[in-house]
Amino acid sequence: MLRGFLVSLLILPAFAATLPLMPMPQKVTAAAGAMKIDSTFRVATTGYSDARLEAAIKRFTTHLAQQTGQPPVPSPQSPAPSPRLLIQCENRAPDYPALNEDESYQLDVSPTGARLIAHTVTGVLRGLETFSQLVRPGPDGFEAPAVHIEDQPRFPWRGLMLDVARHWMPVAVVERNLNAMAAVKLNVFHWHLSDDQGFRVESKRYPKLQEDGSDGQFYTQAEVREVVAYARDRGIRVVPEFDIPGHTTAWFAGYPELASAPGPYRIERKWGVFRPTMDPTREETYVFLDGLIGEMAALFPDPFFHIGGDEVAGTQWRQSSSIQSFARAHGLSSNQALQAYFNRRVEKLLKKHGKTMVGWDEVLAGDLAPETVIQSWRGPASLAEAASKGYRSLLSFGYYLDHLEPASMAYANDPLAGAAATLNARQSARILGGEACMWTEYVSPETVDSRIWPTMAAIAERFWSAAAVRDVDSMYARLPIVSRWLEWTGLQHRANQILLERLTGGQPAGPLRVLADASEALGIDGRRGARAYSSLVPLNRFVDAVPPESELVRRLVEQLVGQALSPANPPTPELRETLSQWSGIESQLRPLAANDSFITELLPLAANLSMAGNIGLRALEFLDKSQAPPAGWVDEQNRELDRLEKPVAEVRLAAVRVVRRLLTQLKPQALANAGVRSGNEPPCNGPLTVPNWTSLARQPIITLKLQRSDSKTECL
Ligand code: ACM
Repeated sequence: MLRGFLVSLLILPAFAATLPLMPMPQKVTAAAGAMKIDSTFRVATTGYSDARLEAAIKRFTTHLAQQTGQPPVPSPQSPAPSPRLLIQCENRAPDYPALNEDESYQLDVSPTGARLIAHTVTGVLRGLETFSQLVRPGPDGFEAPAVHIEDQPRFPWRGLMLDVARHWMPVAVVERNLNAMAAVKLNVFHWHLSDDQGFRVESKRYPKLQEDGSDGQFYTQAEVREVVAYARDRGIRVVPEFDIPGHTTAWFAGYPELASAPGPYRIERKWGVFRPTMDPTREETYVFLDGLIGEMAALFPDPFFHIGGDEVAGTQWRQSSSIQSFARAHGLSSNQALQAYFNRRVEKLLKKHGKTMVGWDEVLAGDLAPETVIQSWRGPASLAEAASKGYRSLLSFGYYLDHLEPASMAYANDPLAGAAATLNARQSARILGGEACMWTEYVSPETVDSRIWPTMAAIAERFWSAAAVRDVDSMYARLPIVSRWLEWTGLQHRANQILLERLTGGQPAGPLRVLADASEALGIDGRRGARAYSSLVPLNRFVDAVPPESELVRRLVEQLVGQALSPANPPTPELRETLSQWSGIESQLRPLAANDSFITELLPLAANLSMAGNIGLRALEFLDKSQAPPAGWVDEQNRELDRLEKPVAEVRLAAVRVVRRLLTQLKPQALANAGVRSGNEPPCNGPLTVPNWTSLARQPIITLKLQRSDSKTECL
């Protein structure tokens, strides 16, 4: 942690690095003192104001009331008593959020008041979120530190894609995620509305799309309008995606004539890439698309319209003699050429309805209108390729939230790195930003928040903040605080206690909580094939309640990084207590497993955690006694940890990382650095130095029953 903090100082002013701001503003300067936020706090406006601005202030004050537990401040007053937040807005924002609109703002906080200045209402929205992140408890109640901030985004397109086709996401889920998106200054909601497993929007023109293709789980047009307005109020554009010509089984349930092979078709229940594909050779296909795009174009005001275009299987095309003869007649020598023909036809329809095409990187093949936007998902190369060919592009490769990778991985992924770094200025200006993608094979409305957040906040920083803001330790120092702050938006990403208690039938879920905090859920690669999954299999097991990244494990590892433990530098009480908890977990969980299949499947995981805890406690014993372990002991334990690390019940035991880190302290060099004589003495024969850790309330040394037959239990 200390090491990371020092690095971050090179990039950020020290003051900024200590504030839990995410995304980090472009410029943060400390001033003296803090502004008290008590019941006399008021918000006032001067200059331009409108309904959107007033609604934003209302949301801000409601949020502030939740943050502080103080009653909401009355509506904007002009003039208002000091101290106050004065909002000075120069101009309206576009009626509907626009790509490249001005989102800049300036925020000054002093002990006597705060001033938020922005050219447009959108800048005010962004600045209010920053102010909200500044609020904290201080020596004299709640306060905001005195600060000068100048801010604007690095990229104009900062998005989240949500797949509502594989698992349906009700409006409430969408809206709470829009709240959180606005909180971290994201500005594009990419709504993946159709796929093999569902067509999720009401079409009045082609009602069998939702009637036969959604199991009744679709958004009415009124709901779509509601979501679009909700997003608009928060400065977020909504880009709809109707994925064609592949990923279209759900369309064919009602309209089999659109497919390249005869039906009948039913909604797909499984996960993968499927054969059903639109017939690109029949004029009727384009008549249908013209009608649907026209209807949807009126529903979604955004000028961009996503047509998917990914993973076109091509099997139905190859197997159809009429499609093959059409391809020959038109000189389309491959499925790729056939898809390019389809894309050009669709692009003309989009243009007719006033829309600009966005597509996954497969659409890059073939001539496309120069205004097309390419979304790069298969690798970063297509991002640079699209930009060098004159297309605007977006990076999603590396931001796939369904992989449940640690936030640090996505955070390190910069849209302008790699191949994109070799582009000239004109070319790299075509890279508009990026989008994180939440595909929902293994994600339900209950779990989706915890799969998006808080990682999404770190990605939002990548899209908004300066490229130089990339210190991972600084990000991780702020992320847990921002994650808790995000709960005030209504997100349920930290609400897994309820899911855990469901598994115990309402019995206290303490042991399960310990296991969950030491574990990490596997992403799509780890779950695929683990069971016979389909959209009908409930996502209600332990793995679904476990977050992708263990905050506890990260904190404990950080405590151990770069610190040679010694009597002068003892382990934290938290480490010692946690290892003890882990050690006892199997025996605590076992009673809960009786007649409970959800817990029974976790017993091997609990046994592994107990073993890891035991190894950790044993390591502490050596360190307590300033004693070197016997020759080979550390290597042997590491081999054991390799075994314990193997996933169980689609969960990885993150706790192993703590114990591994602890074992590095017992390597001869580490011991030498800590002043311990290195040697191969058996633990009971070696010279003992009396630990001088009296400042700590030492835990009683736990009597360990190590399960390994060759363990030296007699020494404990
Ligand atoms: C995709 O992940 N198939 C765009």
